[in-house]
Amino acid sequence: MGRLRTALTVAAVVGGVVLVDLVLAGDAPLPRDTDHQVLVVRSTFDHGTDGWQALGPADVRRTDNAARAGEGSLLVVDRSEPWNGAQLDITDLVVPDRTYRVSVWARLAPDAEPADLQLTVERSAGGTQHFDHLVRRTVTSREWVELGAQYTMPAGTGQARLYLESLDSVADLLLDEVRVSHEAPPIQEDLPALRDVLADRFDVGVAVGPQDLAGPSGLLVRRHFGAVTPENAMKPAWIQPLEGELSFEASDQVTDFAVIHGLDVHGHTLVWHRSTPDWFFTGPDGQDLTSSPQDQELLLSRLETHTRAVAEHLRERYGDDDPVRSWDVVNEAIDPTQPDGLRRSRWYDVLGPDYLAHAFRIADEAFPEAALFLNDYDTDYPGKRRAMAQVVQDLLDQGVPIDGVGHQLHVNLDRPVERIGQTLDELASLGVRQAVTELDVALAAPGRPGSGLPTPELLEEQAAYYGQVMDLLVARSADIDTVSVWGVHDGRSWLRTWRESRRLEAPLLFDDELQAKPAFWAVVESAREAR
Ligand code: XIL
Repeated sequence: MGRLRTALTVAAVVGGVVLVDLVLAGDAPLPRDTDHQVLVVRSTFDHGTDGWQALGPADVRRTDNAARAGEGSLLVVDRSEPWNGAQLDITDLVVPDRTYRVSVWARLAPDAEPADLQLTVERSAGGTQHFDHLVRRTVTSREWVELGAQYTMPAGTGQARLYLESLDSVADLLLDEVRVSHEAPPIQEDLPALRDVLADRFDVGVAVGPQDLAGPSGLLVRRHFGAVTPENAMKPAWIQPLEGELSFEASDQVTDFAVIHGLDVHGHTLVWHRSTPDWFFTGPDGQDLTSSPQDQELLLSRLETHTRAVAEHLRERYGDDDPVRSWDVVNEAIDPTQPDGLRRSRWYDVLGPDYLAHAFRIADEAFPEAALFLNDYDTDYPGKRRAMAQVVQDLLDQGVPIDGVGHQLHVNLDRPVERIGQTLDELASLGVRQAVTELDVALAAPGRPGSGLPTPELLEEQAAYYGQVMDLLVARSADIDTVSVWGVHDGRSWLRTWRESRRLEAPLLFDDELQAKPAFWAVVESAREAR
């Protein structure tokens, strides 16, 4: 891959693609990282590479012997040309026409000669590649230097990536503490608090990551929600990426916040076919585990060790103040197309259908006080509902300590609302608790191409949908412990990147500016009318 480089604005045609190189911000003073800032990217490299990849022929890896803050930083090695560096895809994280504060801390590996590093956004617009150079600084091996700039991505931008490169050196680079944030107006102090409006019905929760806890977003969480679910921080891949290497940094940030502000925590998750690191399923010989008795024993002992380590950590850190009240013990285990209703996964391959019973028994021993849930998506579909009910009934018949069923409720405007009610009723008849664990209402529905834009009409339609969902949840509140939304505000929704890029998807109650949407008011109305 050849690249054109110049400090001036130039255009050239290389292999049919127009390249435009543009210096944008230079060394303009960076505004302070204020309390009014909403973070859209925060890479700490404490757990992994946080989505960063090599730019060109180079290698990136997390290292824990040179962090500027926290436990890790990102090391870029084997660079053969100065432009080889580290890059992050920001296509779905940064919205055009909004001004962001971008900041990356950098250093060179020991003994390297000082080098000029440059932060660049490469973006496509109508068949043209643009290179917006945000800031350039001389960096040494002795100390961390901040490369910071303000950046506004122009309208019409397609793919975009942020990267760090150098001008004339191929020395190993270190990156840490990457932040991309934007200003938001103050949060609305005059809104009714969701947790109060629904207080006599159920607890209202929200999925959060450490980046949601500071500034206005943290204020919004404290004001409206009584419970938090760590969006990713408690997944096995985060807590134990390598066997025996436990890392609770992100998880602690969420649970500390909960303890300080008196919120409950819904633990997510212990057993899942995704986000369980491969080492769980790999034998000492490097081979995949089989269903042999020895391999079964090994996998179960790993699950037990992991679950106990999490419990012990919480006990040591919080004692009687442990805020984790419930757990998604097993996540997404149901597959209605299988005769036994269970998804075929590595857990299933090795342990067979009994893995669920084992997981709940192990969790019950480790967390005797917590409510234990089986959590899944699409439970409003009749087939999935039936399979879920069957699996839960089997577990109950075996005396397995399962307390409840979690309905993720990742829905969209075309999903018939009544089916949600039917599902809640059918599972309630089994006598288990229920929770709505991951509610969001996508504007884009499969049968509505191009419908993802937050037009006023669609936002009203979404509000009506949220209102109807809330009506039926409120009507069944005797069976429901918690209703949680999957994200504090639209700018942090996972649906912006999953399954395809939907940069303007807006499935939550607060918009990118953290202001209440019509959907927020529909939830409030529904709760008030039910009184
Ligand atoms: C998602 C997170 O929101 C993303 O940040 C992450 O990249 C992937 O996982 N069902 C679940 C959640 O149980 O754990 C998923 O969360 C969303 C679907």
